Amino acid sequence: MEPREFYIEDRLERYRTTAPCNLGESGIRNLTYGELLRRLEISSEELNAISLEDSPNRGDAVLREEIAKLYPGIRPEEVLTTTGTGEALYILFQLLCDRGSSVSYFSPAFQALYEIPKLCGARLFPVSVLSSASRRETSFVSSDLIGELFRAGKDLAIVNHPHNPTGLSFDGETVRAIREESLRHEGWILFDEHYRFLDYQNELSWTGAGLNPKSVATGSITKCFGVMGLRIGWMVGPVSLIERARSFKDYLTHTVSPISEFLTLKILRKRKELSERIRADLLSNIRYFESNWKKLPGLKEFVPPGGGVVSFAPLKKDIDSSEYADFLMKHCGVFVLPGRDFETEGWVRIGFGETPERFREGIDRWKDLRL
Ligand SMILES: Cc1ncc(COP(=O)(O)O)c(C=O)c1O
Repeated sequence: MEPREFYIEDRLERYRTTAPCNLGESGIRNLTYGELLRRLEISSEELNAISLEDSPNRGDAVLREEIAKLYPGIRPEEVLTTTGTGEALYILFQLLCDRGSSVSYFSPAFQALYEIPKLCGARLFPVSVLSSASRRETSFVSSDLIGELFRAGKDLAIVNHPHNPTGLSFDGETVRAIREESLRHEGWILFDEHYRFLDYQNELSWTGAGLNPKSVATGSITKCFGVMGLRIGWMVGPVSLIERARSFKDYLTHTVSPISEFLTLKILRKRKELSERIRADLLSNIRYFESNWKKLPGLKEFVPPGGGVVSFAPLKKDIDSSEYADFLMKHCGVFVLPGRDFETEGWVRIGFGETPERFREGIDRWKDLRL
């Protein structure tokens, strides 16, 4: 058995490097190596001293210590580094899903979150959060929906937070509901926290790591800091699960690149300073979009993201999302992802990670379009 094609990837591959205004990406515009070294103040002596031997397959010990500090009460032995969050997710689904397992998730969703469980034979229970995504505030998911997520995902409930593609980032009431439900839940809970460094209320968004003995969280620096090519991700969970995942990883990438690990450590140590500038650019783009979206032909509504880099916006009646995305790219060089790639017709995903100059130019060209 093989997974279906990864719908968003084809379009991303076609346009991510050529689009004059890239709003298709779920990360910020990537830095050059030189720019990263400058921002991190790394000398060539330090780089020259990196050994190219294989890292430990759990991940470099100092890096795991630094990652553990991001999670209250978590020890380094509860951390495993992986090649991208994609590898962490793949391993966890293989370990936590069996044929017939009940797996629930908030939908629409990043496709790997349900495609890989399906590949493992799981029964899928999507719980739509579109009603929350079209409210004025993107921080609230009702306790009914959370109850449904935990009831349906008897074996595994997946919580992606901040959420891709809607930009939902949970408030205190939603977090309380998750905590309460998790106490009654007998199965596993997976928190995909890929955008945890980009919450617009807090320095780090809330984490589900350590919530109960069967909770596991994944994380990454790649999209939040504009270093997608470093491919570093991780998982945080109970030691017994981390040990099984470490053993599984021996059959996949086995270890991650020591150069990427070194740079990730430096990024984490300087994350507050780096984030300030990134947030300022993102918020400037989000505000510009907020004050202009009513002039963009085709959009029905817009709710700014509470966290992460993207929002999911509904289109006016009968507009086909793929045709709309093609039209935008062709006539004003603005690249957005159609809702169809998230198996949700009638919406588009808009990313805010473009540089402010290119973002404004793109939005201004979009405003001038006639459908
Ligand atoms: C919610 C979510 N989880 C996981 C991933 C995969 O991350 P990575 O590129 O680190 O493998 C992504 C990438 O966009 C994502 O949006």
